[in-house]
Amino acid sequence: MNGPSGERPNATSNAPSNPPTRTVHCADALAWLPANPLASGCSILTSLPDVVEFRHRDAERWRPWFVAAAERVVRSTPKDGCAVFYQTDVKRDGAWVDKSFLVQQAALSAGATLLWHKIVCRAPAGQATFARPGYAHLLGFAFDRRDAIEHATADVLPELGGMSWPRAMGRSALEFVVPWLRDHAGCTTIVDPFCGKGTALAAANHFGLHAVGVELNPGRAAAARELAW
Ligand SMILES: C[S@@+](CC[C@H](N)C(=O)[O-])C[C@H]1O[C@@H](n2cnc3c(N)ncnc32)[C@H](O)[C@@H]1O
Repeated sequence: MNGPSGERPNATSNAPSNPPTRTVHCADALAWLPANPLASGCSILTSLPDVVEFRHRDAERWRPWFVAAAERVVRSTPKDGCAVFYQTDVKRDGAWVDKSFLVQQAALSAGATLLWHKIVCRAPAGQATFARPGYAHLLGFAFDRRDAIEHATADVLPELGGMSWPRAMGRSALEFVVPWLRDHAGCTTIVDPFCGKGTALAAANHFGLHAVGVELNPGRAAAARELAW
């Protein structure tokens, strides 16, 4: 299967020569990340929880938590790696919650550079949607990888693709971003500190990369150890 970037899975010398591994830790990512510094070759690919998955379920407390968590993710990224966020906005209590804005605030505080900001269409262009917008954000940041964007890629990904569960990253987005991290950002291991049921981890392994996940919910952590692409 070819992804939207037209690249074949496992088609690069950056992929580890040994079979890709997967490790999932059931832990709080905000404690795990500072205790486990990431090595060269790691990039982070994650999707931070919405307020409905946040333990306090309170929007006023969620917003600063979300920005602090995003900043922790960016600061945990190795100097030769990237941090990629897949986030879907919500329309809540008559207001639009723009998670791209919140992630960019965090990256600015951490001193990282935005490499690209892609739009992943969740609904066809021109179609109205209700609680969630018709697109998701895919944002790539790095400290020292401006070389990675010498190779131009599409800014609008026309479809989400399948989702393994309602909060999963879209398959088409992963078919773009995982080969991109492997081929243009020197990535050999993808780390998802909020891995849910493991969609990004399964994609990493499928494209020949090692995968490390962290997930607070034990049932989801167990699912993330098993999920197949
Ligand atoms: C948006 S979902 C991730 C979905 C995932 N990308 C997938 O495709 O399956 C966010 C996940 O973060 C988890 N989570 C929330 N707080 C966490 C924390 N402090 N540490 C680790 N995981 C956390 C939630 O249980 C939820 O599964």
